[in-house]
Amino acid sequence: MKTKEELAAEQATYWNGTGGQMWLGAYDRIQRGIQGFGEVTLKAANAQAGERVLEIGCGTGALARSMARRGALVTAVDLAPRMIDLARSRTPGHLAIEYRVGDLRRLSPRGFDVAITVNTLHHLPLADAFERMAAAVAAGGTVLIVDLFEARGLAELPYNAASWLLRTREPVGGALASAWAGHRDDLLPLSEIRRVARAALPGVVVRRHLGWRYSARWTKPR
Ligand SMILES: C[S@@+](CC[C@H](N)C(=O)[O-])C[C@H]1O[C@@H](n2cnc3c(N)ncnc32)[C@H](O)[C@@H]1O
Repeated sequence: MKTKEELAAEQATYWNGTGGQMWLGAYDRIQRGIQGFGEVTLKAANAQAGERVLEIGCGTGALARSMARRGALVTAVDLAPRMIDLARSRTPGHLAIEYRVGDLRRLSPRGFDVAITVNTLHHLPLADAFERMAAAVAAGGTVLIVDLFEARGLAELPYNAASWLLRTREPVGGALASAWAGHRDDLLPLSEIRRVARAALPGVVVRRHLGWRYSARWTKPR
């Protein structure tokens, strides 16, 4: 069985290679499907003018731009150069966003007011990712994570049914089908995510949302 490190390295290859390019073909459709989470995240992050915000796994930069429009000073990082190129090309010059190609597993960012990540941490060894997000913020700073979990078993039937009903009903085109063919998500149950989150971020508030997403919000003690 592959280790988490090997799976994460596979992810890097995937996002930087042809799989990432195919996925980009379907990216805008996926964005429309998950737009609601961007809004929830934005509200929860409550990024204020002048705050230094770090976003990990920024993709094409939609959330980074929303935060910058509120006056936040955003550093937006993504593993895939192609995502960063696209994010830059979609960003008007007046917005305060510094885009960087980078891998959270090899970064040690520090001193941010807010560190945020959406739909990304399931690609990474979770405890290490939580710890890096925590280290990125200054005392009193906020970590906000929105990501996927797996809901299995009879007890989850009502939740799964409600999440299916709410999912986007846009037809799945060829681009999306081929993009997902090379995509793998190793999702954890929420109980396990809670356990890891509480160990790395004592006092964290983890909430379950429809659409197989959880949010984790943590404030670093002063
Ligand atoms: C599912 S996409 C989500 C993009 C965006 N946050 C959104 O919600 O639309 C995951 C993104 O995380 C990036 N990513 C994956 N592993 C990463 C890592 N180790 N460090 C930084 N970014 C990573 C991928 O390149 C991809 O753009």
